[in-house]
Amino acid sequence: MKKFISIKKKIKKFNKVINVDGDKSISIRSLIFASLATGKSKIKNLLESEDVLNTVNCLKTLGIIIHKKNNTYFVNGVGINNFKYKKKITLDAGNSGTLARLLLSTLINSPFKIKLTGDHSLSKRDFGRIIDPLTNLGAQFYPQNKKKLPLMIKKSNNKKKSKFYEKKGSAQVKSAIMIAALQKKSLTKIIAKKSRNHTENFFKFLNIPTKIKKTKKLDYINIRGVEKFKSFNYNIPSDISSSLFFIALTILTESSQIKIKNVNVNSTRLGAIKILKRMGIKFEIKNIRSYKGEKISDIKVNSPKTIKPIDCPIKFNSSAIDEFLIIFLIAAKAKGISYFKDIGELNQKESPRLKICSKFLTMIGIKNKCTSNSIKIKGNPNLQLKGNYVMKNFLKDHRVFMMSTIAALTLGGNWKIYDPHSANTSFPSFLKLIKKLGGEFILN
Ligand code: S3P
Repeated sequence: MKKFISIKKKIKKFNKVINVDGDKSISIRSLIFASLATGKSKIKNLLESEDVLNTVNCLKTLGIIIHKKNNTYFVNGVGINNFKYKKKITLDAGNSGTLARLLLSTLINSPFKIKLTGDHSLSKRDFGRIIDPLTNLGAQFYPQNKKKLPLMIKKSNNKKKSKFYEKKGSAQVKSAIMIAALQKKSLTKIIAKKSRNHTENFFKFLNIPTKIKKTKKLDYINIRGVEKFKSFNYNIPSDISSSLFFIALTILTESSQIKIKNVNVNSTRLGAIKILKRMGIKFEIKNIRSYKGEKISDIKVNSPKTIKPIDCPIKFNSSAIDEFLIIFLIAAKAKGISYFKDIGELNQKESPRLKICSKFLTMIGIKNKCTSNSIKIKGNPNLQLKGNYVMKNFLKDHRVFMMSTIAALTLGGNWKIYDPHSANTSFPSFLKLIKKLGGEFILN
């Protein structure tokens, strides 16, 4: 495995049309729902990243037959509560919080203890956030009182609650409760702070009885479990979170333009676009069409003359949660001070992103003031780097690697960025696309 990439040259101006890899959230969900469906589902354009391939492997260990032909994955769904539970099964979620949390919710009726493990980064993350609701929905976790992986889960016959309040704006927590509720006959009520709604969209198009009432800040979701639901076909759109790295590359490279095709522009994922619009970036979002509750379109962006700073409204936080690293990098070139608050959740991701990004900005000479929950960034529109820069020890966080690569290609300087393999977690084509746009790097 290559240890690091070196970048010594800025990327030259470009004007290109690209396709990015499939949406990670939808890829993981489509496999989980296809396994719980009755019959054979067909999934096209599945993201073949490590998080998603780990999903395939975990489901195979649970007895699901999955195979690939041409560009299509075929999943033989066994129906709700029908996994091949065995004693001594261990499932490995690798780096993926989404897989780990959603998978645990599918296992609440397991008669045997099933063990879930993860990599170094995932083993540091909080599972208390789903242990609590899933325990109340009738699961038991071992060892008791432990809040981190590895953990074991088993059915408990002790359902204690049917009403939940999801206060973090976490789609993983909301989805875990929804998938567990799907397997319970009685009614489950969830009051959830706004977050990405792909699970709700799956429930709707799969005709799972769900009532959703939306208010400005909260969603009220009522679910009654079903005995079974039908298999389906799904064509996965491209990932807006992956697209944002190339949008940032364009914004930070003079006189450039990019068009990214077939991107999922679901409004619960558009926080970064809304923030960047307020920072003076102009987007063209065209050819919008609806697909199974999602919205797909082509996105075009040109590099701007100047970037405006932002006092970022907290209403955008949840829908931009995976994009803040790249937004901070763009804020580093804004004309003035940007302020992002109530973003402590960033330290609960694959790495403590808020802390790591603050250190990164300091390394490249950008003044910033970071607390456990906020960051102020003093942008410098004339930022041009000349020295040597090493990016290392970021828990192999894929998004830290990709953000650093975009910085190196646009700001100048002589860079060594460790763990290039990490991009495969969510975006295996990342470096290939960088090359296609003319970016030069050496893998060492
Ligand atoms: C995801 C939800 C978000 C996001 C993650 C994917 C999902 O996490 O950061 O990359 O697919 O539900 P939280 O729900 O924990 O905020």
